[in-house]
Amino acid sequence: MERTFLMIKPDGVQRNLIGEIVARFERKGFQLVGAKLMRISKELAETHYAEHKERPFFRELVSYITSGPVFAMVWQGEGVIETARQMMGKTNPKEALPGTIRGDYGISVGKNVIHGSDSPESAEREIALFFKEEELVDYPKTIDAWIY
Ligand code: TYD
Ligand code: MG
Repeated sequence: MERTFLMIKPDGVQRNLIGEIVARFERKGFQLVGAKLMRISKELAETHYAEHKERPFFRELVSYITSGPVFAMVWQGEGVIETARQMMGKTNPKEALPGTIRGDYGISVGKNVIHGSDSPESAEREIALFFKEEELVDYPKTIDAWIY
């Protein structure tokens, strides 16, 4: 089953949005297979965002993502990578539609509440970067029969 890496960023944790955001993915029908509250080291931040290391916002991005705890998660379900990105909304909350997480809770691109993998390749890479295999829990959910 398809999996993605989602992370509530330090602003989302500080603003008490963990429960609200987790609830959205639960209600959509996706399955939580791993989660932890953690601090990101500078090294992990730089590796995670390596694709942006030449961009002008890179230093600020690394400083923001390491500024407080994040809530890292792995979610599972059919089409979860793309659907989670739709539920998050556009990168810049000014462009994210109401009803999306960034559209409902964010104002600035610098503090946009949530991260989500953008492709199967980044999902695989990011899950491995943040979670050990034994931290991910594979379990049946009987409710799946009512969703798929
Ligand atoms: P990006 O991977 O383009 O967006 P997304 O998080 O939607 O996959 O960029 C990573 C993060 O970098 C983004 O969530 C916020 C930050 N960022 C800026 O601060 N300024 C910018 O102009 C861009 C494009 C991103
Ligand atoms: Mg991205």
